[in-house]
Amino acid sequence: MKNNLSNIKKSKYYLDKNECIAIPTETVYGLAANAYSKKASLRIFKLKKRTRKNPLIVHYYNLQMLENDCFTNKNFYKLYKKFCPGPLTFVLKLKKKSKISKNVTNNKKTLAVRFPNHPKTKKLLRLLNYPLAAPSANISKKISPVSKDDVEEEFGKKIKFILNGGRSKIGLESTIISLVNKPQILRLGGIERSKINKVLKKNIRYNKTNKKIEVPGQSKLHYSPGIPIRLNVSRPSRNEAFILIKKRKKTFNTYFYLSKTKNLKEAGKNLYKTLRIIKNKNYKSIAVEKIPNFGFGEVINDRLKRASSK
Ligand code: TXA
Ligand code: MG
Repeated sequence: MKNNLSNIKKSKYYLDKNECIAIPTETVYGLAANAYSKKASLRIFKLKKRTRKNPLIVHYYNLQMLENDCFTNKNFYKLYKKFCPGPLTFVLKLKKKSKISKNVTNNKKTLAVRFPNHPKTKKLLRLLNYPLAAPSANISKKISPVSKDDVEEEFGKKIKFILNGGRSKIGLESTIISLVNKPQILRLGGIERSKINKVLKKNIRYNKTNKKIEVPGQSKLHYSPGIPIRLNVSRPSRNEAFILIKKRKKTFNTYFYLSKTKNLKEAGKNLYKTLRIIKNKNYKSIAVEKIPNFGFGEVINDRLKRASSK
């Protein structure tokens, strides 16, 4: 490889060789590889220590490329028009002629797809003649990464290249909606539920416990800093890290604020970073104050519940 290549060209160089690299997205960083290649997609599972049963999200540059692989429908176009590129993942029926590797889907007849909204990753996708399979760039069940440093912390030297795109703007994973049958939300995330309901003009079901479809957001322990977390706490114990949603008048160095003003979007953006900081300060337990359960608060509570599950 020539030394003077731009970082985007370097990324393409590695991906064309069926290597895995990390890419920035507006939600979290992804561990990306050619979704049409068996060899490349297997590398993702190995690096992440992820069960092969758990299928991968595939990232596309545009509709044309997606239509080679999946069937679309009216609801898809309505949501696409409103939210894409952006933090929304669609589960669609896979076409028989699709070139997506069977490892990516775990032989399922559906595919989870997304159009990420990050300038560097969009530029990269435009240069490639294949879409990118990319789960979050963390070891399975651990905290998702929202910066280059976080990815390095997860994988060290095991990863060939990280395309640095700064801090992820949203900081929580995409919302997943299945449009295979009746629309159904499978994971809460970067697009609030109320906004989806508004576009589709009905209340879309949110299925937390669909046993048939395995979604990480549905497996119990996830997004875990590896230490116990207590929720809805008003008084933390001594030496416990305390996560708060709004700045207090009286504060301590064991207090960690997700937002200054109880802004739930800002709090969502800071959630994974805060958990990672606390973990790295070697606290033995975390307490979290009650977080309002609407809008992004609902997503934060979902992630915290899973992070605190045993
Ligand atoms: O924001 C995001 O979605 C990030 C960025 C990198 O795009 N990606 C992400 O991927 O969160 P991951 O793998 O950590 O979580 C996506 C989940 C998968 O674990 C899988 O369970 C679910 O989406 N999924 C994938 N294919 C599916 C399918 N065909 N049906 C239902 N769920 C599926
Ligand atoms: Mg993940």
